[in-house]
Amino acid sequence: MLRTRFTETFGVEHPIVQGGMMWVGRAELVAAVANAGGLGFITALTQPTPDDLRTEIERTRELTDKPFGVNLTILPSINPPPYAEYARAIIESGVKIVETAGSNPEPFLPAYREAGVKVLHKCTSVRHALKAQKIGVDGVSIDGFECAGHPGEDDVPGLILIPAATRVLDIPVIASGGIADARGLVAALALGADGVNMGTRFLCTAESSIAQQVKEQIVANSELDTQLIFRTLRNTARVADNAISRKVVEIEKAGGTFEDVRELVSGARGRKVFEEGDLDAGIWSTGLAQGLIEDIPTCAVLIERMVREAEGLITGQLAGLVAR
Ligand SMILES: Cc1cc2nc3c(=O)[nH]c(=O)nc-3n(C[C@H](O)[C@H](O)[C@H](O)COP(=O)(O)O)c2cc1C
Repeated sequence: MLRTRFTETFGVEHPIVQGGMMWVGRAELVAAVANAGGLGFITALTQPTPDDLRTEIERTRELTDKPFGVNLTILPSINPPPYAEYARAIIESGVKIVETAGSNPEPFLPAYREAGVKVLHKCTSVRHALKAQKIGVDGVSIDGFECAGHPGEDDVPGLILIPAATRVLDIPVIASGGIADARGLVAALALGADGVNMGTRFLCTAESSIAQQVKEQIVANSELDTQLIFRTLRNTARVADNAISRKVVEIEKAGGTFEDVRELVSGARGRKVFEEGDLDAGIWSTGLAQGLIEDIPTCAVLIERMVREAEGLITGQLAGLVAR
């Protein structure tokens, strides 16, 4: 067993988190992570309405009696979803852990606090982590430049970002981005983190609801097979290298605006990749960690293997390096 401030504070067995994933963070995956002793997050906005989120939470409860959480990602948008109603659905459903991401969670904290909900805020820089600590979140997940999705604009990889954060923060820190196995977990603990968050690794598990072709592509891909889109918009996203992401980067380099790529990057196209396995239908998030992924295990096998191998690394291989 690996005991950390994170496992104690959030009441889970292992210091392993499955972060929110649009179109992927559904009941089956979240419950599989929970049953294996990790902390899984349902992705609120994958559900079309707050009522659908309530149903998804109920479905998850039918599949596990272990703790799990809900990710509510708040991004600037022209037609924003009813965020406050999603937050109310989380609270009224009795969920006790929330992953916030995308922007400052401060407006939602009083309601979460009053309901006894613990907040793990995901961010991409030390300054945002310090701000989150100041406003009273219970822990932070910090995404390095390696991560799938939005790495921010600072381009600082985890090897620097995590110790730069843990040396100044007092609350539990979850290292995120580029972690796919026991070596990443042990490295994160050595950098001062209290656990790890993984997206790409959980995307490629048996219980992840995406098409088999996408999982096989992740196994086939190396760490070189991603693209950074939206750099010119200062809203960078790391996605799989494919015909669409290359085209988006090309249009951006030629001076194109968001309007010029809007149709190519639509959520509907991305969803088609995950649901139909059409790998060039749109953009889809995946991180550098795909270069370390060689199989499609169940969450139980993955988590048990990571913890067992991490214990072996710490007590065996690493301890054996110390000359006496
Ligand atoms: C397909 C996919 C969708 C994601 N969607 C979200 C999201 O909606 N909200 C969020 O906070 N993070 C999202 N993420 C980021 C993950 O929660 C996590 O922070 C990230 O994947 C960590 O990096 P890694 O992929 O290298 O493990 C997504 C990641 C993937 C792979």
